[in-house]
Amino acid sequence: MLFAKKKEIVGIDIGSSSVKLVQLKEIKGAYQLQNVGILPLPSEAIVDNSLMDTSAIVEVTKTLIRSLGVKAKEAACSISGNSVIIRKITLPAMTSEELEDQILWEAEQYIPFDINDVHVDFEILSSDLAGTGKMTVLLVASKKDIINEYVSVFNEAGINLVVVDVDSFAVQNVFELNYDEEYENVVALVNIGATIMNMNIVKGGVSLFTRDVQLGGNLYTEEIQRQFSLSAEEAEKIKITGVYPDQSKLQYVIGRVNETLTMEIKRSLDFYNSSADDEKITKVFLSGGSAKVSQLPNAVSQRLGLPVDTLNPFLKLKYSEKEFDPEYLQEIGPFIVVAMGLAMRRLGDK
Ligand SMILES: Nc1ncnc2c1ncn2[C@@H]1O[C@H](COP(=O)(O)OP(=O)(O)OP(=O)(O)O)[C@@H](O)[C@H]1O
Ligand SMILES: [Mg+2]
Repeated sequence: MLFAKKKEIVGIDIGSSSVKLVQLKEIKGAYQLQNVGILPLPSEAIVDNSLMDTSAIVEVTKTLIRSLGVKAKEAACSISGNSVIIRKITLPAMTSEELEDQILWEAEQYIPFDINDVHVDFEILSSDLAGTGKMTVLLVASKKDIINEYVSVFNEAGINLVVVDVDSFAVQNVFELNYDEEYENVVALVNIGATIMNMNIVKGGVSLFTRDVQLGGNLYTEEIQRQFSLSAEEAEKIKITGVYPDQSKLQYVIGRVNETLTMEIKRSLDFYNSSADDEKITKVFLSGGSAKVSQLPNAVSQRLGLPVDTLNPFLKLKYSEKEFDPEYLQEIGPFIVVAMGLAMRRLGDK
């Protein structure tokens, strides 16, 4: 969305629970891992998708960059949820240049904000639908004031923000890199963080449907906290370690939240299945920290009647085992998917 010269770009994913950084190097058409790291954010730094405590976010981002010894001066980040509007629209067939000239005018009818307040970007999905003289276009609009907040956070952290992507598309990037054998299948990519769930149904390199739902792993923590009368910190720890005297009650509480999230996923997937005469979804790939919740993949699989896998971002990525512990990488895999997708971005990518 924002453009710049072709330079080394680090992917920095500012999530509500932590900042993740990934840097890749492209060698002979293959990616190699150069840098990866995660640093937690204070819980009140980002609330309801808004950057509340920008100085804390700047501090954590700066510390992460410094501690990893990142020298690159340019970064890509992403937004999601209510910060971005994504619509698939049908227009008369035209060239990319023609659309460039007309996009604001076309976009105006689909965007519930003043067109002057948003950045609009697009991708032509199919240029001439079966000779009908029509084409489908993916419209991506983000509010300028939100983008500007990110620009200034990155500036203060000492790095230039040159690409602003969308969480779901970053996940898609990583999926396509690692699972080329699934390329022709319709798959659902579901990224579940702490506060938001990004769903993206893709096929053949094209996003068929996206939806973000403001629900995530915090729900488990809140439920454990409520059911067992604990502090948020205690509840978070129990969720992650699974250590609690009354195991059956804990599993019951987690199972109920699994059910809530699973129903939400099902609702979106059903919506896609009913609105599209496209092929049906064949598989679900989970990512995000909440993909680690015990029995969640199983619950999703049961509810949807589909195979579910946790997306592994390191399948096709080369890395030096001297520099990076493979076990550690497997451990952090689900968390860094968005940051990795951002690190793959180059100038002019859409
Ligand atoms: N071992 C684990 N088991 C269950 N949940 C976990 C585990 N480790 C981390 N989580 C949860 O994963 C979530 C963080 O995931 P992630 O880093 O993807 O979110 P985020 O990007 O910070 O948030 P968001 O994108 O929603 O703003 C938190 O809710 C955290 O409690
Ligand atoms: Mg996230």
